[in-house]
Amino acid sequence: MARAQGARGLLAAAALLGFLQAFSSFEVKDSSGKVCIIADLTVAFSVEYKSNGQKEFARFFLPQNATVEPQSSCGKGNTSHPILLLGFGAGHSLSLNFSEYADKYQVEELVFHYNLSDATLFHNSTAEVKRVSQKNIIQASLGTQYRCINFKHINMKNVNITFSNVTLEAYLTNGTFSMNKTECAEDMVSTTAVVPTTPKQTTSQVPTTSPAPSALPSNPAVGKYNVTGPNGTCVLAYMGLQLNITYLKKDEKMGLDLLNFIPHNTSSSGTCDNTSAILNLTFEKTRVIFRFALNASTEKFFLQGVNVSTTLPSEAKVPKFEASNNSMSELRATVGNSYKCSAEENLQVTDKALVNIFNVQIQVFKIDGDKFGAVEECQLDENNMLIPIIVGAALAGLVLIVLIAYLIGRKRSHAGYQTI
Ligand SMILES: *[C@@H]1O[C@H](CO)[C@@H](O)[C@H](O)[C@H]1NC(C)=O
Ligand SMILES: *[C@@H]1O[C@H](CO)[C@@H](O)[C@H](O)[C@H]1NC(C)=O
Ligand SMILES: *[C@@H]1O[C@H](CO)[C@@H](O)[C@H](O)[C@H]1NC(C)=O
Ligand SMILES: *[C@@H]1O[C@H](CO)[C@@H](O)[C@H](O)[C@H]1NC(C)=O
Ligand SMILES: *[C@@H]1O[C@H](CO)[C@@H](O)[C@H](O)[C@H]1NC(C)=O
Ligand SMILES: *[C@@H]1O[C@H](CO)[C@@H](O)[C@H](O)[C@H]1NC(C)=O
Ligand SMILES: *[C@@H]1O[C@H](CO)[C@@H](O)[C@H](O)[C@H]1NC(C)=O
Ligand SMILES: *[C@@H]1O[C@H](CO)[C@@H](O)[C@H](O)[C@H]1NC(C)=O
Ligand SMILES: *[C@@H]1O[C@H](CO)[C@@H](O)[C@H](O)[C@H]1NC(C)=O
Ligand SMILES: *[C@@H]1O[C@H](CO)[C@@H](O)[C@H](O)[C@H]1NC(C)=O
Ligand SMILES: *[C@@H]1O[C@H](CO)[C@@H](O)[C@H](O)[C@H]1NC(C)=O
Ligand SMILES: *[C@@H]1O[C@H](CO)[C@@H](O)[C@H](O)[C@H]1NC(C)=O
Repeated sequence: MARAQGARGLLAAAALLGFLQAFSSFEVKDSSGKVCIIADLTVAFSVEYKSNGQKEFARFFLPQNATVEPQSSCGKGNTSHPILLLGFGAGHSLSLNFSEYADKYQVEELVFHYNLSDATLFHNSTAEVKRVSQKNIIQASLGTQYRCINFKHINMKNVNITFSNVTLEAYLTNGTFSMNKTECAEDMVSTTAVVPTTPKQTTSQVPTTSPAPSALPSNPAVGKYNVTGPNGTCVLAYMGLQLNITYLKKDEKMGLDLLNFIPHNTSSSGTCDNTSAILNLTFEKTRVIFRFALNASTEKFFLQGVNVSTTLPSEAKVPKFEASNNSMSELRATVGNSYKCSAEENLQVTDKALVNIFNVQIQVFKIDGDKFGAVEECQLDENNMLIPIIVGAALAGLVLIVLIAYLIGRKRSHAGYQTI
C-alpha cells in the first residue's frame, strides 16, 4: 500500500507540475497498415543514479509525445515477436515484446534504455546509456483487451516502472480493441469482492490454522501422467508435484501457499504436435500446464513454459492467482530418451510462484512401446552420486593405509624377535 500511495503521490505531484496528460495512446501497424498492437497507458519511471557520487532519484513520466519507433513491428509468423518500441526525450526508450502461447498472449519482455547524459532528467550524471529489463509482466487471453486501472509496479535494478490506467492488446485481428477484457489481478480486488470464498480444500499439509507457517509439508506423492497424441503416447511423466506461491494477504502481509498434488485426484490431459506438447494437470482448483518444445537442431525435448493458476486461501487479498513463464529451458533430454531426476527441482515460474518437482522421470514426443527410453540423469543427481564415490574412495584409501601399517608393524615385530 505504501508503494501505491507513493505512486499516487507521484502522479499528483506530476499533475501539479503540468504533466496532466501523462496518459498516452500508441499503435503499431504492419506494412499493409493493419494495426496489430494498441497500447493506452500511463507510465511513471523512478530511476536511481549517481550525481557527483551522490545517490539521486529522477522521477518522470512517459511523455505523450513519445514516438512509436520504426523498430516496432507486428512480428513475422513465428520467426519474430511483435514489438512496441517507444522513444522519448534524449535517447530513452521503452520496449515491450509480445509472444503468444496456447490461448494467451503476454509481454514477454519489457526493456527500458535510459541515457544518463540527458541533463534534463539526470543532473550531472555520467554519459552512459543503461538497460534494464523484466520478463513476463503482463498476460491476457488472445482476443481480449488487457485492462489494468490500478498501479502495476515493476521493480528492477535502479529503476522502478509503474504502469497505470492500462488498456493494451496485441495480436489484434480487427484493428481495434476486442470487446472482451482480461482484467489484471490488481483490479480484481474490488470487482470480484462477491467471489465466493469457499475455503480451499487444500491438501497442503500445512493446516491453515497452523501458527507455524514455516512448517514444511512432506514431499508430494509421485503421480503417473500421460498424453496421447496422433501417433500414440507422446508425453509420459512420473513426478511428485508441489506448488509454492507467495501472495499478498488482506492485512498487507505476505502469505505462503504450499500445495501438494494428490495423484489420484489429479486429472491429466494434453495435446501434441510435431514440435510442441502440452501436459495439463488439474487438481481441485489448481492447474499446472507444462509446455514442452523440440529443439530440432539438437534433437532434444525440453520444458519451455509453465502456467500456474489457482485459488488462494480466503485470507489472500486477490483470490485468483495466475503465473506463467514461457522462456524456460528445463528437463532437457534427447528425443527417444527419458529425463530423470531424484533430487528435488525448483522451477521458477515467477518471483511469486515456484513449481517443485520430485522424483521426476519424463519423456516427450517419441516414446517407443509406451515405456521410458534410456535414462539421462540430471546434474543434481550426478553430483549427489559423486559423494558416495568420494566417500567410498576415501574409505578404500583408509583400509589400505591401515593394512600397510599393519604389515609394516608385523614385519618390524618379526625383526624384533629375530634380534633376541
Ligand atoms: C484512462 O484511460 C482512458 C482511456 O483508456 C482515458 O480516457 C482516461 O483519460 C485515462 N485516465 C487517466 C486518469 O489518465
Ligand atoms: C515532447 O514534449 C516536451 C515537452 O512536453 C518537449 O520538450 C519535447 O521537445 C517534445 N519532444 C518532441 C520530440 O516533440
Ligand atoms: C511456424 O513453425 C512451424 C514449426 O515450428 C512451421 O511448421 C510453420 O510453418 C511456421 N509458421 C510460420 C508462419 O512461419
Ligand atoms: C525484446 O526486445 C528487445 C528490444 O528490441 C530485445 O533486445 C530483446 O532481445 C527482445 N527479447 C525477446 C525475448 O525477444
Ligand atoms: C556538476 O559537477 C561539477 C563538479 O563535479 C560542479 O562543478 C558543477 O557545479 C555541477 N553542476 C551541477 C548542475 O550540479
Ligand atoms: C523501487 O521500489 C523499492 C520498493 O518500493 C524501493 O525500495 C526502491 O528504492 C525503488 N527504487 C527506485 C529507483 O525508485
Ligand atoms: C470486428 O469489429 C466489429 C466492430 O468494429 C465487430 O462487430 C466484429 O465482431 C469484430 N470481429 C472480430 C472477429 O472480433
Ligand atoms: C466474449 O464474451 C462473451 C460473453 O462472455 C462470449 O460469449 C464470447 O465467446 C467471448 N468472445 C471471445 C472472443 O472470447
Ligand atoms: C494414459 O494411458 C492409459 C493407458 O495406457 C490410457 O487409458 C489413458 O487414456 C492415457 N491418458 C491420456 C491422458 O492419454
Ligand atoms: C517457497 O518460496 C519461498 C519464496 O520464494 C521460499 O522462501 C521458500 O523456501 C519456498 N519453499 C519451498 C518449500 O519451496
Ligand atoms: C506421426 O507419424 C507420421 C508418420 O510417421 C509422421 O509423419 C507425423 O509427423 C507424426 N506426427 C506426430 C505428431 O508425431
Ligand atoms: C486443461 O484441462 C482443463 C480440464 O481438465 C480444461 O478445461 C482446459 O481447457 C485445459 N487447458 C489446456 C491449455 O489444455
